Amino acid sequence: MKRITVLGATGSIGLRTLELVSSFPDEFTVAALAARGSTVERLADLCRKYAPEVVAVLDPTVVDRLARLLGPGGPELLGGPDGLVTAAREVSADVVVSALVGGAGLLPTMAAIQAGRAVALANKETLVMAGELMTRAARERGVPLLPVDSEHSAVFQCLAGHNRGDVHRILLTASGGPFRELPKDALTRVTVQDALQHPTWKMGAKITIDSATLMNKGLEIIEARWLFDVAPEQVQVVVHPQSIVHSMVEYIDGSVIAQLGVADMGVPILYALTYPERRPAPAARLDLPAVGALTFFEPDVAKFPCLRLAREALERGGTAPVVLNAANEIAVAAFLEGRIGFTMIPEVIERVLGEDPGRPLVSLEHCVALDADARARAQRWIEARSGGPSR
Ligand SMILES: NC(=O)c1ccc[n+]([C@@H]2O[C@H](COP(=O)([O-])OP(=O)(O)OC[C@H]3O[C@@H](n4cnc5c(N)ncnc54)[C@H](OP(=O)(O)O)[C@@H]3O)[C@@H](O)[C@H]2O)c1
Repeated sequence: MKRITVLGATGSIGLRTLELVSSFPDEFTVAALAARGSTVERLADLCRKYAPEVVAVLDPTVVDRLARLLGPGGPELLGGPDGLVTAAREVSADVVVSALVGGAGLLPTMAAIQAGRAVALANKETLVMAGELMTRAARERGVPLLPVDSEHSAVFQCLAGHNRGDVHRILLTASGGPFRELPKDALTRVTVQDALQHPTWKMGAKITIDSATLMNKGLEIIEARWLFDVAPEQVQVVVHPQSIVHSMVEYIDGSVIAQLGVADMGVPILYALTYPERRPAPAARLDLPAVGALTFFEPDVAKFPCLRLAREALERGGTAPVVLNAANEIAVAAFLEGRIGFTMIPEVIERVLGEDPGRPLVSLEHCVALDADARARAQRWIEARSGGPSR
């Protein structure tokens, strides 16, 4: 039995992970669950179904409500950011699935690594913020960082059995998002609903907006640089609207190895949970004749400046990716709340990133402080532009 802790249990990745726990009851059991606490009833249902020993919620006011819903004999309940860290660090688990969204996952994910637990990593923002610190901590403790992102799971599989020194480049595929064929000037008029319509994947709101701006691919370039220890210029992007080829690795002799499959996050999640073994996945099978054609295009960086901004931040290194991520999170939240338009997302990021003097990132504490500062600056700039503070 593998004991699984799920950080972000109520989200798209968290729920898919728990479905897999249900599909393989002889293989997995739930050790702890963590979430923000926005959906208390859903969390209570998950507790009844999976009987975790510990549940941590970011919102401490949710603890009492959850305790009342669950009655006596339920899991130990922890509240606040420290509760999430305690759940990741103290509760014995074979794998911690890191599936919180955004920078909120940084400290709990680091806590799991520092406690020597294998991490199945979906929460790419943590690697964007602290890739060097996190991969160094994992190396020092011999902790595997197992990719859950479908592209990185694909690269991980394409690298298996090969010499890392023979890698020429990594080709991350991108669906292109819902606005791939929209003319650039029409982007000023797109609505939140338009941006939430991802053509191939069903995901949480933040990553869906990141996919529409192509920032998701920019974050994934940074994630790949750290996960696979390659130079920034070795990670390139190719648009592939069918989302069948999940990514590729090109070797020095010109061979390109690709991983293909249906667009179902259950496949990379299950591989991370059972690695290095495989299990028969309860997913649809790939039917290539039904797919017909696979097409590939260059990404349009002029139309989607977030891709350029992410690459610039990676090349500058140090503090720049922390600032990029923080400004993006604030800008995406403002867009989702209807406070700014779609094309203002890269404007906010460019502005806040432009103010960063570019220093080395020295510690996790430095990362946390810088993240808070960049968020505050992004927020102020949005308020100045949109004519007042947020609701
Ligand atoms: N969805 C996908 O297919 C996919 C694919 C690849 C990578 N990823 C990555 O996986 C991560 C999760 O994505 P998702 O789509 O599953 O997100 P999601 O559906 O929005 O779920 C996010 C989860 O994190 C919790 N959460 C949100 N903000 C939090 C905060 N400030 N503190 C503590 N917990 C917080 C939520 O709790 P509440 O429900 O209580 O708010 C929820 O459990 C992201 O980093 C994303 O980029 C996702």
